[in-house]
Amino acid sequence: MLRRILLQKKIETLSLQFKNDLSEVRNSADLDLLKIKYLGMKGPVRELMKELRTVPEQERPLFGKSINDLKTELERSVETFEALLVNREQESQLNAETIDVTLPGRHRFPGRKHIITAALEEIIDILIGMGFTVEYGPDIDTDYYNFEALNFAPDHPARDMQDTFYISADYLLRTHTSNTQVRVMEKHEPPIRVIAPGKAYRNENVSARSHVFFHQIEGFYIDKNVTFSDLISTLDEFIKKLFKSDIKTRFRPSYFPFVEPGMEVDIWCLKCKGEGCPICKHTGWLEVCGAGMIHPEVLKNGGIDPEEYTGYAWGMGLERLIMLKYGIDDIRRFTENDLRFLRSFPGV
Ligand code: PHE
Repeated sequence: MLRRILLQKKIETLSLQFKNDLSEVRNSADLDLLKIKYLGMKGPVRELMKELRTVPEQERPLFGKSINDLKTELERSVETFEALLVNREQESQLNAETIDVTLPGRHRFPGRKHIITAALEEIIDILIGMGFTVEYGPDIDTDYYNFEALNFAPDHPARDMQDTFYISADYLLRTHTSNTQVRVMEKHEPPIRVIAPGKAYRNENVSARSHVFFHQIEGFYIDKNVTFSDLISTLDEFIKKLFKSDIKTRFRPSYFPFVEPGMEVDIWCLKCKGEGCPICKHTGWLEVCGAGMIHPEVLKNGGIDPEEYTGYAWGMGLERLIMLKYGIDDIRRFTENDLRFLRSFPGV
């Protein structure tokens, strides 16, 4: 009698314990553990079955049934819960995979040329179309080609350490692309009609208008009877082709040791339309180019007879031209690598 009550009690407690444990199950791994704990080979249900043997024979069927009922109850609960878990897992997987078709797409930007490269290519194309060929001079050069051969007096201020980056006593970073002039003259006989694009370096304070390095496009033409008006008309035509408009230019007398006469070319400021703004230092004009007739001494240094030949030369500042064309007010933008700036140029 006592045994019967005890066994019955055990069955009820087990059922309660199981329900309690089941309520803690969070996933299928928990459920597997629970299954082994209650229904496994060493689990309490098995133990109860073993205990059945100790029950008097006439009571066995009754207890056997109770134990079997418990077993079926536990197995059903596990099955039901298993199905529930599978549903839940599928649901959360579906949720995770949901595509929100209303989200904006991800924009991919393909690589593109830097505006300096693109503008340089455009300018080279225009000048090739006007009969020039391209030559390149070295960025690191000697005092001779950068200064001496270009008729700079030994005490000219541009030779001063303040403006020039010296690499050693003999070598410097070219301060202008004019270092190419005498090198080309040494190599070629006139007629020479050459452009020499590249970087130039100056030891200056970096500001909105000047940088320690920038680009120039040198151009020169040496032949019999080359005149100052050839220079003016060539520059005028080039600027009109580049700006694709009837933009105003201004030629001012100026001094460079390697030209005589020398001048500076200004372009009407497109940003303020001549009104005056920070780009043009409130003058309405922007200086973009130094130019002039090649000095006879320079021709001589290049092995060309100044009695027979004359020539013109110019040196254009590339950044200035781009700033003017696109209304950029700070030369530092070109080297900051701000993607918003780099991507802002149409069709480049
Ligand atoms: N090299 C000069 C400069 O850098 C420009 C220039 C080139 C002037 C050719 C005259 C002739 O300012």
